[in-house]
Amino acid sequence: MDELLIGLIGAGNMGKSLAGGVKAADNARIAAIADPAEGAAEAAAAEIGEGEEIDAYLSAREMLARDDITAVIVAAPNYLHAEMTQLAAEAGKHVFCEKPMALTVADARAMIEACDSAGVKLMIGQVQRYNAPYIWMLDLIRTGKLGEPFGMQVTRIGGGWAGRYGQSWRMEKEKCGGPLFEVNAHEIDLMRQVLGEATTVYASMDNYVTPEVDYEDFVQLIINFQDGGRGSLLAGHSAKLGSYDGKIFLTGGTIFFDNKTSEVTWHVEGEETQKISYAEAGEGYERGLNREIREFVEAVLDDTLPPIPGIEGLRNTEIAQAAGISSASNRAVVLPL
Ligand SMILES: NC(=O)c1ccc[n+]([C@@H]2O[C@H](COP(=O)([O-])OP(=O)(O)OC[C@H]3O[C@@H](n4cnc5c(N)ncnc54)[C@H](O)[C@@H]3O)[C@@H](O)[C@H]2O)c1
Repeated sequence: MDELLIGLIGAGNMGKSLAGGVKAADNARIAAIADPAEGAAEAAAAEIGEGEEIDAYLSAREMLARDDITAVIVAAPNYLHAEMTQLAAEAGKHVFCEKPMALTVADARAMIEACDSAGVKLMIGQVQRYNAPYIWMLDLIRTGKLGEPFGMQVTRIGGGWAGRYGQSWRMEKEKCGGPLFEVNAHEIDLMRQVLGEATTVYASMDNYVTPEVDYEDFVQLIINFQDGGRGSLLAGHSAKLGSYDGKIFLTGGTIFFDNKTSEVTWHVEGEETQKISYAEAGEGYERGLNREIREFVEAVLDDTLPPIPGIEGLRNTEIAQAAGISSASNRAVVLPL
């Protein structure tokens, strides 16, 4: 197979962005799009296609029946990731699934099992680890110059969805999972990149100022990691003045990042404190979205393991699910669930 034909499930904002990633890959193309919203698949096909023939479907099942489509990208709302992935696997298609992989560990396991038993690849779109400045910080940590990481604190808190997004699925816990799934799958994944696998999760959360959503808008999460590290996250949609920043503590250094100044500041013991702008930190790195799609396509065409396999999404889902259990029961939750 020289060119991978991909079916896109979900023609929303992210689906169209991911189609741009496919366009950037020279050995794959979007051949069809499925979306039940009237006209959405056609509109996306016209936008993405630029003259190329892309077929539009209202039903993913119908699109999955096509033999010439070898892989799919699942960019439907979160609550459909498990169902769509399993349907695609049963139809023999390789799957790239957006984050959050699933809303429960049971669903994530079922997705992995479905792909394993069908002999198809499964990759999860945990793109943050590929995006600057995060990838730059991870590479700095990997040099070992700052010693061993032992602590990390991230704040990612802002205003509500309502005005900015408006899609109803993002307003319902059953459909989006709440902030730890829908938004902070990225921060949870990043903390795992720095500190390894989680052993214990404690969380406390409530809804204070966002009556239009049925989930918590203020979340505090504490994670203990297997190598002894400690992580914490402050998240939600309740801040009138938002903030997105973090600190990584290592035995021989410290790293701060701040989306307000778009700068990473780091200090290596015995040296001058240094700064780099996010723009400079991103130099030389492939755009994360293009990289994840390129790697998925290569894994399928070369028959290799995708670099972000299902287990990675399962671990992130497990932390988010454990946080919900912890907050509801006011106790720490020991992993695995
Ligand atoms: N990696 C990232 O940084 C990132 C950023 C944004 C969104 N996402 C993820 O991408 C996914 C989609 O988000 P979005 O912002 O594009 O949402 P969106 O609401 O813009 O688009 C979702 C689309 O899915 C369609 N859809 C609903 N049911 C469907 C079904 N049964 N089959 C096929 N399509 C269906 C909707 O009609 C809509 O067009 C979510 O899982 C979200 O978490 C990831």
